[in-house]
Amino acid sequence: MAKISFKTLKNKAQKDINLAKDLKELDEIFRKYLGEKGELRQILHSLEDLPQIKRKETGKLANQIKKEIEETLKKKKSNIQNLISNIQKQEWVDITIPGKKPVLGHLHPLTQVKREIEEIFQSMGFSVVEGPDVENEWYNFDALNIPKDHPARDMWDTLWLKDKGAKLLLRAHTSPVQIHYMEKNQPPLRIIVPGSVFRHEATDARHEFQLYQIEGLMVDKEISVAHLKAILTEFFKRFFGKNTAFRLDPDFFPFTEPSFNVSVTCVICGGKGCNLCKKTGWLEMAGAGMVHPNVLKNSGLNPKEWRGWAFGFGLERLAMMKYKIDDIRLFRSGDLRFLNQF
Ligand code: DAH
Repeated sequence: MAKISFKTLKNKAQKDINLAKDLKELDEIFRKYLGEKGELRQILHSLEDLPQIKRKETGKLANQIKKEIEETLKKKKSNIQNLISNIQKQEWVDITIPGKKPVLGHLHPLTQVKREIEEIFQSMGFSVVEGPDVENEWYNFDALNIPKDHPARDMWDTLWLKDKGAKLLLRAHTSPVQIHYMEKNQPPLRIIVPGSVFRHEATDARHEFQLYQIEGLMVDKEISVAHLKAILTEFFKRFFGKNTAFRLDPDFFPFTEPSFNVSVTCVICGGKGCNLCKKTGWLEMAGAGMVHPNVLKNSGLNPKEWRGWAFGFGLERLAMMKYKIDDIRLFRSGDLRFLNQF
């Protein structure tokens, strides 16, 4: 009877040990079977009345069962400990290793150049002004002395917006902001106007369908081309970091009279002539001139009282000449090999 009980006890204990999931459960199993009040002890107590020889035999058997259970417990314990130490090894982190730094971006080269230009002009007393990207015909053309059907309109390949009769367009230049500003502000005035302009244009190394311009306008009593030249000289010197030769060549714009284009020596070829500058050694940076009396009139100013000059720089062109970039399309290519250089 005792034999069967011992065997059953052993089987039960081993089954429990197999199912145990952690050290705490193993401890409970030890106490349940082998502890002071454990089941093995209870069986032994119940055998106290047996004759001595029988008791001896039974005692031996009990010891053997105890050893076997202890052995199984030990094995299971070391299994669980191995498992725990494996998990700890896998999950171990070295908290002293420095963290991964997030990659910091930087401003786009055109934004950097734009801010630099703004600072230079602000230090010469110019305010930075903005205007809308979407204009109507009056501001983009008529008010700038470019009437309907005038051939000068062909100079701007305009993108018209489909709208209910309002004839809206994406501004082809920043010059409309001259009108907006003069309508609301009395001279003397000095402003620059950075902003996007849009052209219906096939792209090449010098041309984009979307680009930035920096418009400039100065209106006062006794203003002449000499003021324009002085401001341009100072601007180029500060922007390029050295005295920079530039040219004013006669040109035509309906909103200025006389009109010029402003060119600097092409830095790509050092003035020797290359594809970018069409072998001339000079690259056009801006259109400029004395504000046409009709433009002043259309803005509500008396041309007999006020005079002014204006310019319109291509921001990309300035950046190209500052950083020796030979293709305007790189700016909006999103190519990090290009952008990370700035
Ligand atoms: N708006 C002209 C263009 O986009 C550039 C220009 C020429 C602006 C002469 C001016 C100017 O202010 O006086 O081609």
